[in-house]
Amino acid sequence: MAILVTGGAGYIGSHTCVQLISQGYKVVVVDNLSNSNIESLNRVRELTDTEIPFYKIDLLDRKSLEKVFEEHHINAVIHFAGLKAVGESVSRPLNYYYNNVAGTFVLCEVMEKYNIRKVVFSSSATVYGNPKTVPITEEEPLCATNPYGQTKLMIEQVFRTLYECDARWSVALLRYFNPIGAHISGRIGEDPTGLPNNLMPYISQVAIGKLEQLKVFGDDYETVDGTGVRDYIHVMDLANGHIKALEYLFGTTGVEAFNLGTGNGYSVLQMVKAFEEATGKKVKYSIAPRRPGDIGECYADSTKAKKELGWVAEKGIEEMCRDTWRWQLSNPNGYKLDQVHT
Ligand code: NAD
Ligand code: WQD
Repeated sequence: MAILVTGGAGYIGSHTCVQLISQGYKVVVVDNLSNSNIESLNRVRELTDTEIPFYKIDLLDRKSLEKVFEEHHINAVIHFAGLKAVGESVSRPLNYYYNNVAGTFVLCEVMEKYNIRKVVFSSSATVYGNPKTVPITEEEPLCATNPYGQTKLMIEQVFRTLYECDARWSVALLRYFNPIGAHISGRIGEDPTGLPNNLMPYISQVAIGKLEQLKVFGDDYETVDGTGVRDYIHVMDLANGHIKALEYLFGTTGVEAFNLGTGNGYSVLQMVKAFEEATGKKVKYSIAPRRPGDIGECYADSTKAKKELGWVAEKGIEEMCRDTWRWQLSNPNGYKLDQVHT
């Protein structure tokens, strides 16, 4: 069974490739490397001892994408490729709409041409905007608070429409909460470009001395200690969720959304403490104003994924911190030192 993984050189994609191969799937990767380094795939090859066909292709390049489907008998697609920085999406909204939404249009057209209608899509908890209640179920009203979130909502709608017009489509919309952690080997992990936007990479770069201190964005939310609460999920648990979703797709048609989270919320200060305990490193921080657009509290009800996919997150916060730190320690500059050109 061959799976086309778009964005497979990225953070979640590379970890999912490892799990796919370990479960016996053949993997073909398409990525334009706009936010990743080919070294990640080299390491996936090394970890799995498997050759992975790789195409440095932009999803918007229809001709090149068709060539991939000509050269491989693809059974299903896992669609990670997209831009994901919330702040950047506000300053470059058209770029986000074009890359994420138009990229998905081209992918779907090519899939239809080759008669493939099974796809797992990387959606996000961001589609819930500022949720009215926690834990968040899939029934929570959808709402985007920034262009990045809008692209996720629009793509979800595109898949719903495709199914309404052609009942052969089979789509899993996976709404990830906050993915952190790394493969246990420390060989692959999250490698943000420039200053990290997200909490965990920021904490680990403070711990290793690359950044001076963490700014905690707000301590006046209605949460356990006033700082923002999120549902952090280990990237390997998330990767396994994609395998379960694929298995599900092969037995059904339709479009279903699933929350992938642990169901546990941790505040920023609880994360700092957990990281310090797991790694023995001190994380210096100071309290700063709220970050515009942030919400106070967000964590998942993943009962539906448990019931329908047979998936639950297994790894706890200590393992997430330890694995992040192992990756950070052994790759202080991410993949950059080992840069290989294609
Ligand atoms: P990532 O940036 O590491 O991976 C995305 C990959 O897609 C990158 O390798 C990038 O080069 C590639 N890409 C982007 N646009 C492309 C295009 N037009 N053509 C070909 N390749 C393209 O991000 P990630 O953290 O691995 O996220 C994967 C997916 O999951 C994204 O769609 C993201 O929006 C979604 N998501 C991520 C998070 C998170 O916190 N990391 C949370 C929820 C959802
Ligand atoms: C977590 C908590 C911050 C950095 C974002 C996207 C979302 C999804 C995941 C893709 C919050 C606080 C952070 C810092 C801090 N991505 N924080 N200091 O905001 O939940 O979600 O990534 O879909 O769409 O919005 O994650 O890691 O940025 O923040 O205090 O330097 O850490 O305020 O409470 P967030 P995050």
